[in-house]
Amino acid sequence: MKLAVFASGSGSNFQAFAEAVEEGRLDAEIVLLVCDRPGALVEGRAAAKDIPVFSFDPKAYDGKAAFERAILSELKKKGADFIALAGYMRLIGPVLLGAYPRRIMNIHPSLLPAFPGLDAIGQAFDAGVKLTGVTLHYVDEGMDTGPIIAQEAVRIHESDTRETVQKKVQTIEHSLYPKTLQQLIEKGVNVK
Ligand code: GRF
Repeated sequence: MKLAVFASGSGSNFQAFAEAVEEGRLDAEIVLLVCDRPGALVEGRAAAKDIPVFSFDPKAYDGKAAFERAILSELKKKGADFIALAGYMRLIGPVLLGAYPRRIMNIHPSLLPAFPGLDAIGQAFDAGVKLTGVTLHYVDEGMDTGPIIAQEAVRIHESDTRETVQKKVQTIEHSLYPKTLQQLIEKGVNVK
């Protein structure tokens, strides 16, 4: 698998991929990081691992189709055959969806379809649910919709704060995302 990772922020999931590749737990090559926030922490993580970065400012383009065409051209140059969204804070449009059908996966910090959108951990906390978690799903044109591939639950205890829940969720993310990609590489994924 020639993997492209899209991220906008801290990039702890990007780091988890890079380490899984280094440690032989993920038979993939990370051929490109795509980042829509020049200067984001994730870019430094990629530089430290010598992974190429396509960093762009969406405002410099004439709309989503235009910047997605620019991304697509970079993806083609690197031969990317799969895209993992890891904290990429924008919806994927028809240009990329058309070029990578069922080849774009996203990670979301809740048990979808509960709590889509921003601050899913805060939403779960405010709702008082006792169980939340992590979802991996294929990407379609919606926000955190698309067929679900894998989920893992996190229990919220009375003593938890948003911060402790976030830490538990992230720990699961960092193992579940590389593991699920590896399963996909080995056996494919059967989604109904
Ligand atoms: C993760 O919690 C992911 O579920 C969500 O955005 C966050 C990205 O975190 N989509 P990081 O940038 O990988 O640290």
